[in-house]
Amino acid sequence: MTDLLVTGASGYLAHRLIPLACQRGEVVVLSRSEPDAATRANARWVGADLLEESTVDVIIGLRPRAIINAAATNPGSGHSFATNVMGAAHVARAASRTGSRLVHVSSDIVHSGQAAPYGDDAEPDPVNDYGRSKADGEASILAAVPEAVVVRTSLIYSLERMDRGTAGFADRLRAGESLSLWADAIRQPVYADALSEALLILALDAVGERGTINVAGEQALSRAEFGRRLLAHWGVDTSRITEGTALDVAGQPLDLAMRFDRARSLGLPIPGVADVLG
Ligand SMILES: NC(=O)c1ccc[n+]([C@@H]2O[C@H](COP(=O)([O-])OP(=O)(O)OC[C@H]3O[C@@H](n4cnc5c(N)ncnc54)[C@H](OP(=O)(O)O)[C@@H]3O)[C@@H](O)[C@H]2O)c1
Repeated sequence: MTDLLVTGASGYLAHRLIPLACQRGEVVVLSRSEPDAATRANARWVGADLLEESTVDVIIGLRPRAIINAAATNPGSGHSFATNVMGAAHVARAASRTGSRLVHVSSDIVHSGQAAPYGDDAEPDPVNDYGRSKADGEASILAAVPEAVVVRTSLIYSLERMDRGTAGFADRLRAGESLSLWADAIRQPVYADALSEALLILALDAVGERGTINVAGEQALSRAEFGRRLLAHWGVDTSRITEGTALDVAGQPLDLAMRFDRARSLGLPIPGVADVLG
C-alpha cells in the first residue's frame, strides 16, 4: 500500500510538493514524462497517461491511502485541456474504487472575475476554455468522490525555480525588450511551499474536509505589481516594465481576489507575496 500518490510529477508545483510529501511517508509519483533526478531519488515514478483508461487500473493497483491530483494542462502548453477533464475523471474513478482520500488542485480561473472576492463555495462561471476545463474537472471529481477536496489556487511561484510566466518575462527584459504587464488583473499569488504544505494537510491530516477550498496567498495584487516584485527578487532589471490593461483581452478575468474563510479556520498557511519576498 502506498501512503500518497501525487500526479503531475514533472510539473512546476511538483518541485516543491514532492520533497515535502516524501517527508510524510512513502510517495509514488505519476506523469507521462520522467520527473527530475531529485524527484526520482525520493519517490517511485510511474510513467502513465491519465487520458488512458488503463491508468485507472494502474492507480487502483497502487492502493494509495491518499491522492493529490496536481496533473493538468495549463495555457500555453500547446496541448488540449483534456487532462483537466478526462484525466481528473479517471483519477476520481480510481479513488472511488480504492476509497483513497482525494485532493484535487483547481484554479481561480473557474471564475469570471465579475464578482470578487470569491468565497470558498462560489459557483464557477468560467469565461475561457482553460477555466471551463478546470470547472468541468472539479465537477467530475466531486460527482465521483463527494468526500474529495478541491483546492482553488492562484499563480504559483517559488524561490527555488522561476515559474514559466516569470521566466518568459525575464527573457524578454534581459533581451532588452520592454514588457507591459496588466495593472488591472488582480490575483493572489501562492508560494509553492505553502500550497504544498496545505495540500498535504488536506490529504493526510484534515481528512474530514470536503468540497471546494480557496488556498492561495492572502495578499491580492495586480499582475504588474507581482511581476515587478518577483522579477526584482530574481535580480532582473524591471525599469522597462510598463503598465497595461487586460480589459480588452478576450476571455481574461480581471479581478480573481478570493476569501479564505476555510483555509483560515483550518490554519492552512496562506502567506502573501510581501510575507515571502519581504
Ligand atoms: N502554475 C500556476 O500558476 C497555476 C495556477 C493555478 C492553478 N494551477 C494548477 O496547479 C496544478 C499544478 O500546476 P503546475 O503549474 O505544476 O502544472 P505543470 O507545470 O503544467 O505540470 C503539469 C503536470 O501534469 C502532468 N500531466 C499533464 N497531462 C497529463 C496526462 N495526460 N497524464 C499524466 N500526467 C499529465 C504533466 O506531466 P507530463 O506532461 O510529463 O505528463 C506535469 O507533470 C494544476 O492543477 C494547475 O491547473 C497552477
